Amino acid sequence: MAARGLIVGSLLLVSTLMIDNCSSQYQPTWESIDSRPLPDWFDQAKFGIFIHWGVFSVPSFGSEWFWWYWQKQKRQPYVDFMQRNYPPDFKYQDFASQLTAEFFDAKEWTDIFAASGAKYIVLTTKHHEGFTLWGSKNSWNWNAVDVGPKRDLVGEIASALRAHSDLRLGLYHSLFEWFNPLFEQDAANLFTTNYFPTSKTLPELYDIVMKYKPEVLWSDGDGDAPDKYWNSTGFLAWLYNDSPVRETVVTNDRWGYGCICTHGGYYTCADRYQPGHLLKHKWENCMTIDTKSWGYRRNAPLKDYLTIEQLVASLVETVSCGGNLLMNIGPTHDGRIAPIFEERLRQMGQWLKVNGEAIYNTTAWKVQNDSATSDIWYTYGPQKNTIYAILLQWPNNGSVILHHPVVTVGKTEVVLLGHGSVKWAPVKPSGLQVLLPQLSFSQMPCQWAWTLKLTGAT
Ligand SMILES: *[C@@H]1O[C@H](CO)[C@@H](O)[C@H](O)[C@H]1NC(C)=O
Ligand SMILES: *[C@@H]1O[C@H](CO)[C@@H](O)[C@H](O)[C@H]1NC(C)=O
Ligand SMILES: *[C@@H]1O[C@H](CO)[C@@H](O)[C@H](O)[C@H]1NC(C)=O
Ligand SMILES: *[C@@H]1O[C@H](CO)[C@@H](O)[C@H](O)[C@H]1NC(C)=O
Repeated sequence: MAARGLIVGSLLLVSTLMIDNCSSQYQPTWESIDSRPLPDWFDQAKFGIFIHWGVFSVPSFGSEWFWWYWQKQKRQPYVDFMQRNYPPDFKYQDFASQLTAEFFDAKEWTDIFAASGAKYIVLTTKHHEGFTLWGSKNSWNWNAVDVGPKRDLVGEIASALRAHSDLRLGLYHSLFEWFNPLFEQDAANLFTTNYFPTSKTLPELYDIVMKYKPEVLWSDGDGDAPDKYWNSTGFLAWLYNDSPVRETVVTNDRWGYGCICTHGGYYTCADRYQPGHLLKHKWENCMTIDTKSWGYRRNAPLKDYLTIEQLVASLVETVSCGGNLLMNIGPTHDGRIAPIFEERLRQMGQWLKVNGEAIYNTTAWKVQNDSATSDIWYTYGPQKNTIYAILLQWPNNGSVILHHPVVTVGKTEVVLLGHGSVKWAPVKPSGLQVLLPQLSFSQMPCQWAWTLKLTGAT
């Protein structure tokens, strides 16, 4: 038995080495890293959920930047909030024990995510505060296993997600940490030393990839330090050549000062990025349902939350222009997804159930929006040469003109998704007028945007 095991073992070793040799194609340079094609699944997925959760979810006041705004910038609302509600010697670190997560149930969360129609999630494993939601040994006593919930929050979500074959795991990770003394020391040395990346950032990046096998790695927080300091291309070459997720992993563009919108995988360019026109490079619009914060805010009024009409419009415009939408929610310190977020997510799923074929697996069409109005956005289904025109408004007079499709009488067919065929007539000089059916409210296939599917048109 032992001898046989040895032979099988060395055969495995040989084949592993061969695979490694063939796959070590990416060099630690941006030229090489940027040449890697983005795995197909990401462009097909179109819609993901961003989750900002951490110690900042305990004060849940202002923003996830609470610590910085309170202690570094000494912004008045934060200083007042602390003076009124906490003893004078209360430190930010003291919030960690109140990250209790007693209502956190990863299965409940992932069931809501699946119902939203999202195809991936991106969870903050560590924000700029440095607190890790997994038991990082490089973050002793400043992680969710040592303090607070005493649970591996990343691990619980990762495991629950695997039960939904249609949902992929993405992990957000901040390169820098506001107040980490090793980072401050490197910064004082103008990043000519790299105590912090070698003892903290890089070990933790390797750790989360090996432990949780994320298929999106969402990097953030370069701390104005160059990518050379972070050894980003070295790490990415390993990720793309040798990591367990090398075939499917997707990364973003926040890997060092000046990298954003220029290097890495897909582009994010800015928070809430919405260019309004087609980009050549794959991009993602990360935005948040609570327009004022990414982390949970207990005192957010309803008017700060985007409506489902606005969220559907964001998804439609983003996909039409070649992007993915990453829509953020902020869970509470005790592990709940507040009903307002849950409702928005489930509404998105209801809309996608009817209109998903105009979103998933589509590409940009030759025109993004119709010239008469910015209320009509196009997508294209390459498999069956299908043009989708998504109407953000239901036309009051029962008809709508699409100027850009080239139609042929007797060949072109128009379907209202969730309803059926509808009448149309060609218009001059080009395009068509679509007569929408007279539907009562309960007969409407959906309530927030409507898709006309055109076949036999170009
Ligand atoms: C940078 O990454 C590469 C590839 O993983 C590694 O070989 C190298 O030692 C790293 N350099 C530093 C300074 O950590
Ligand atoms: C998109 O395409 C992929 C691969 O071709 C397929 O597996 C998947 O089911 C499609 N998704 C949808 C929602 O059509
Ligand atoms: C898209 O809409 C904008 C106005 O919002 C308009 O200026 C532009 O021409 C439209 N694009 C196309 C291709 O119709
Ligand atoms: C319906 O209204 C739109 C503008 O809202 C206009 O362009 C179109 O000509 C109208 N159609 C009819 C049949 O009146």
